Amino acid sequence: MKRFLGAALLAAGVGFLVSQATRTPIYAASNGQQPSQPAANTTPAHEEDLAKAGSEVFGQNCAFCHGRDAMGGETGPDLTRSKLVLSDSGGDKISKVVRDGRPTKGMPSFTFSSQEMDGLVAFIHSQAAKAAAQAGGRRGVDVSDLQTGNVEKGKEYFNGAGGCSKCHSPTGDLAGIASKYEGLHLEEQMLYPREAKSKVTVTLPSGEKISGTLAYLDEFVVGLRDANDTYHSWPTSKVKYVVDSPVEAHVEQFPKYTDDDIHNLMAYLQTLR
Ligand code: HEC
Ligand code: HEC
Repeated sequence: MKRFLGAALLAAGVGFLVSQATRTPIYAASNGQQPSQPAANTTPAHEEDLAKAGSEVFGQNCAFCHGRDAMGGETGPDLTRSKLVLSDSGGDKISKVVRDGRPTKGMPSFTFSSQEMDGLVAFIHSQAAKAAAQAGGRRGVDVSDLQTGNVEKGKEYFNGAGGCSKCHSPTGDLAGIASKYEGLHLEEQMLYPREAKSKVTVTLPSGEKISGTLAYLDEFVVGLRDANDTYHSWPTSKVKYVVDSPVEAHVEQFPKYTDDDIHNLMAYLQTLR
């Protein structure tokens, strides 16, 4: 299934999309520590309940085509590797497909309450995250796929439609990138630079601005680490903040790539040794 090569590799991004979709913290400190106490109801328990309820709805309505685990069945595709699912945010894409169906392609339309729909969306995202975690995000990827791209076209895409050259340079920050990461790892970084830190600028009620590395963000709390690595946080209701997320720029690109674009880009990046 080469069609979903990119999707499988972006699996690393699933967690991000899931959490965005379900309003749990959309960013947590990468060392896994929860800085300070976030406001009361940020527990993921609610999301788990939602996904659990969704699994029942899924089991009754969708499983016979898409498989119990959403990984594909007799007549329906694997949803955990679907580009549409991976680029879904808060159900915006999934719910449309479910409501409208694709009658000419064997996907019926359904009418669900918004609660049921939320459950379905949570379940599908949790399955996608699970699938990604299980396989280290590399399921079904054939290394030889990485050799099939066209270098010239990849370069063109980098400087043109892909918009990569707005932020990157082959002789600057990406010089030697192919020596830094091999094959699949390079592709993962290209699609979803997991290590990239987001910056945030918080404007206090007094007008004072504080910038730093985003360390925590949910509906209620925004937290950053300043240049001295000191953690600060504020209630989101009391301050204004702007997040500059390089990861997001990459995620936004994701639904726009064709598989050829990805292969060509990979071929091009692999020349940067
Ligand atoms: C009768 C079989 C069948 C049932 C039942 C069914 N689907 Fe589908 N579904 C399909 C097929 C076939 C496709 C692929 C359509 C296409 O090729 O465009 C699809 C596509 C989708 C897609 C889009 C995937 C993509 O990458 O474009 C989503 C999301 C989806 N189904 C979710 C659901 C959910 C949720 C349910 C249950 C509420 C469900 N489906 C029930 C057959 C089914
Ligand atoms: C809005 C700016 C922006 C755009 C557009 C963008 N990137 Fe990035 N990219 C970044 C930032 C920032 C990082 C993180 C750099 C770091 O952590 O060293 C990054 C990381 C990467 C990395 C990993 C670099 C490393 O050293 O780990 C690769 C590869 C990459 N991007 C490729 C691309 C490609 C290919 C495109 C176009 C399809 C693209 N980027 C578009 C900002 C951008």
